Amino acid sequence: MGAIEFDGVAKRYGPVHAVRDLTMRVPEGEFLTILGPSGSGKTTILSLVAGLVPPTGGRILIAGRDVTNLEPQQRRIGLVFQSYALFPHLDVFRNVAFPLAVRGRPRSEIADKVAAALARVRLDGFARRKPQQLSGGQQQRVALARAFVFEPDILLLDEPLGALDRKLREEVQVELKALQRDLGITTLLVTHDQEEALSLSDRIIVLDHGAMQQVGTPDEVYRRPANRFVAGFLGLANLLEGRVEAGRGLRLPTGELVACATQGLAEGSPATAVVRPERVRLLPETAGEGIAARVRQDVYLGHLRRWHLDSDAGPELIAAAADGVGQAAIGDRVRVAWAPEDVWLLPEEARGAAA
Ligand SMILES: Nc1ncnc2c1ncn2[C@@H]1O[C@H](COP(=O)(O)OP(=O)(O)OP(=O)(O)O)[C@@H](O)[C@H]1O
Ligand SMILES: [Mg+2]
Repeated sequence: MGAIEFDGVAKRYGPVHAVRDLTMRVPEGEFLTILGPSGSGKTTILSLVAGLVPPTGGRILIAGRDVTNLEPQQRRIGLVFQSYALFPHLDVFRNVAFPLAVRGRPRSEIADKVAAALARVRLDGFARRKPQQLSGGQQQRVALARAFVFEPDILLLDEPLGALDRKLREEVQVELKALQRDLGITTLLVTHDQEEALSLSDRIIVLDHGAMQQVGTPDEVYRRPANRFVAGFLGLANLLEGRVEAGRGLRLPTGELVACATQGLAEGSPATAVVRPERVRLLPETAGEGIAARVRQDVYLGHLRRWHLDSDAGPELIAAAADGVGQAAIGDRVRVAWAPEDVWLLPEEARGAAA
């Protein structure tokens, strides 16, 4: 078991900064998800922890030990990559036994540990099958069993559920979370699925172009994003620009006041209000509060309905509610409102590297 410390870690490939000056601590037993768009450096961070590539700057410590110059096999790390790459000629038992066999463990121990690992991923009875005789989700669970069977200090998972359909993915997510909690293994999971990140993680780090934009609990990064990039990457966000009226809220250029806590921002300073669509209420046109708007589009999502609105305050606004809760048809004139505590203000300097 071990905490991971990144101390100014950087990785450059020629002119490309794959990872920039990463400093953070992942406490022992934490489930940390690395979230970011394609090319943002997610896989590179896992490869650096695993020792598959050397950093061009900084140090990595595992359980307090500097591993920066250690070979991968000296690091006690279990790995699952997106293409789960089981050995096709070996049956499930021998696939899972592999990390124990290369470590020269005795046969009886191997038999016990493989059986326990297969039970853990609910694949007892599959030991003699070959990978091609398994479904995608079953193969993925074999890959997971192979990654933790030798009791590694750290589990690195690079989009391990990427190949699964939504239903299976949600099932394996639940299993993965339970497994990680029971084993207490420090885990880094890479995904670009924001729901997966929000539902599985103790904390999330959001990357853009190799730079950490924010690290925090799912609730923090969702409700209190550090900048526009994070706000836009974790779901839809309404962004309203204006000027701070200290202690009152944000004054929009069209004159409306968005009431909210002003978080110590200076009077008159430019800022952006972030409001999540599910916090936006649709009111009748005659309501005495809120911002006037007109429904442009109505999107049915099964569990949710979403409205895209042209607002008098300038930008497009988005509202969402459980289907049946709110009602509005295309062309309706409405007013939109939200509670002051559902507004998060971003100062001008947190505009970020453009969403
Ligand atoms: N071996 C390499 N040589 C040169 N450049 C590389 C190499 N590996 C990665 N890169 C570059 O480093 C950056 C980060 O790549 P990385 O694979 O970490 O992204 P990622 O966040 O995992 O993306 P994806 O979601 O597409 O898997 C990219 O610009 C990529 O092109
Ligand atoms: Mg990747």
